[in-house]
Amino acid sequence: MNNDIKKVLFSEQDIEEGILKLASKLNEDYKDKNPLFVGLLKGVIPFIGDLTKKIECFCEIDYIRVRSYEGKTPSGTLNLSGYVPDVKGKDVIIVDDILDTGNTTNKIKKLFINAGAKSVKICVLLNKPEGRLVEIEPDYYCFDTPNEFVVGYGLDFNQKYRNLPYIGVLKEEVYER
Ligand code: IMP
Ligand code: MG
Repeated sequence: MNNDIKKVLFSEQDIEEGILKLASKLNEDYKDKNPLFVGLLKGVIPFIGDLTKKIECFCEIDYIRVRSYEGKTPSGTLNLSGYVPDVKGKDVIIVDDILDTGNTTNKIKKLFINAGAKSVKICVLLNKPEGRLVEIEPDYYCFDTPNEFVVGYGLDFNQKYRNLPYIGVLKEEVYER
């Protein structure tokens, strides 16, 4: 699996340090609140696990299942499947692995506002500003990433590479297989 990686963009140590900084901001901003973290499955799993372990206030953690990619191409439609948490009156923090086009998070944010959330903020590990198609910015994020398809630490290509402990770019030949 490591042989498929062309270059590493963020090492395990980079990620650990980035998350520590991010958590300290959240700890400051939410010190008198009990936020509800809502992770977007499946890519968010390593990030939300490591992040919430550093959160010091009482909080809730929940998930929704969305799918917006086929291979390395955005499918254009958002598939929300199954259960959606009750967000009424809550300070919600939507957590995702990466903010790319912004389509996914934008739709979820609207959904939560319409469902009566008290506040809705967006927290991502990676921000890909050049990928943006809708006007939305992360309230919290660790790193800007170039406009390249990345894998690892939860991010997949055709469901693979989520278990890499770092984030990197695949060799071209992987897409030709
Ligand atoms: P958006 O709706 O385009 O902002 O993208 C959100 C979702 O697309 C993320 O939750 C990821 O699952 C997926 N995605 C976007 N960019 C990448 C990438 O570079 N690698 C892997 N998945 C990505
Ligand atoms: Mg995702």
